[in-house]
Amino acid sequence: PHRLDIAVIPGDGIGPEVTREAVKVLRAVTGDDVDLALTDYDLGADHWLATGQTLPDATLEQLRTHDAILFGAVGAAPGDTRIPSGLIERELLLRLRFSLDHYVNLRPSRLYSGVPSPLADPGVIDFVVVREGTEGPYTGNGGTLRGGTPHEVATEVSLNTAHGVERVVRDAFARAAARRGRLTLVHKHNVLVYAGRLWKRIVEAVAAEFPDVVHDYLHVDAAMIFLVTDPSRFDVIVTDNLFGDIVTDLAAAVTGGIGLAASANLNMDGSAPSMFEPVHGSAPDIAGRQLADPTASILSAALLLRHVGLDDPAARIERSVAEDIASRTGSRSTAAIGDAIAAAVS
Ligand code: NAD
Ligand code: IPM
Ligand code: MN
Repeated sequence: PHRLDIAVIPGDGIGPEVTREAVKVLRAVTGDDVDLALTDYDLGADHWLATGQTLPDATLEQLRTHDAILFGAVGAAPGDTRIPSGLIERELLLRLRFSLDHYVNLRPSRLYSGVPSPLADPGVIDFVVVREGTEGPYTGNGGTLRGGTPHEVATEVSLNTAHGVERVVRDAFARAAARRGRLTLVHKHNVLVYAGRLWKRIVEAVAAEFPDVVHDYLHVDAAMIFLVTDPSRFDVIVTDNLFGDIVTDLAAAVTGGIGLAASANLNMDGSAPSMFEPVHGSAPDIAGRQLADPTASILSAALLLRHVGLDDPAARIERSVAEDIASRTGSRSTAAIGDAIAAAVS
């Protein structure tokens, strides 16, 4: 059988709860066809509190040896003063995305039939956001805080390289060519002059390689209007790291909620393992109570299978999720949703 060696990082809050269900479904769907090896990595807020370590170099090197990584969520509760804000997110999650060169942060948005959307007339919603994953303001490169006086100044620098923008834009065009042939660049070049110009110029240049793809441009603020008033106009959205973060939470909200939104952090060169995780965070407000929807994590596991070439089990998960979603009525526990989907895929 096909051997698949996955590192599992459950993380904090609802991370372990939803990841347990994704693992359950992975085991059920692969059955005897795949020799599935799962290795748990205990990383996150509790690990930091116990050891003072977020991601030791040796652990990062171990993570590189797996075929793929299944990630839950990390992040402390807002009131938890023991942990500096965003420390785990930056030193674990973002460090993984940067170190493993996850330059395509792929976030599909689809309104499943039977899912209530907050939009009165949502129409067909089926697009993917290709969010740049290794640059932008996320790098922390060159930011400064000059404090201590009433004239305190804080700056955050957004890093955009031709190499980084071009590779993600080319990936987005290729995805558009394989879908409905429409690509929208979302940026804000009326204000972000330098980065905006680079992104626009590269989109125009790469467009020449994809004559069958129609492309357009929207400022990010206007794009948010259309995401609510006319989401079916989108096929592939390509955007930078920070805009992509914001766009994909709204995209999740209009397609039935953050509990359904899956994502893939892809290293398309294959030089390091890709990582699959729900779009949502550790949801401290509902953690430990079996209230979290594990569907986003389960769909992220399907993205993982697809990425390693196991299209058949991936499709089986997606089909079973679609059926499960269509028949949802009352509320079920996290485990009950996982059980139902695991039963349906096996
Ligand atoms: P969040 O996504 O954790 O939660 C936002 C809201 O959505 C909350 O009301 C939460 O209960 C709800 N929610 C999230 N996932 C859900 C699910 N599966 N089912 C049902 N409801 C769900 O965002 P936040 O509150 O801004 O962040 C909480 C912590 O998570 C912070 O520390 C943040 O930095 C971190 N975070 C981590 C990741 C990640 O690990 N990838 C992503 C986003 C936020
Ligand atoms: C996400 C999260 C992360 C991001 C945070 C936790 C660093 O919000 O995966 O969407 O901003 O990328
Ligand atoms: Mn986010």
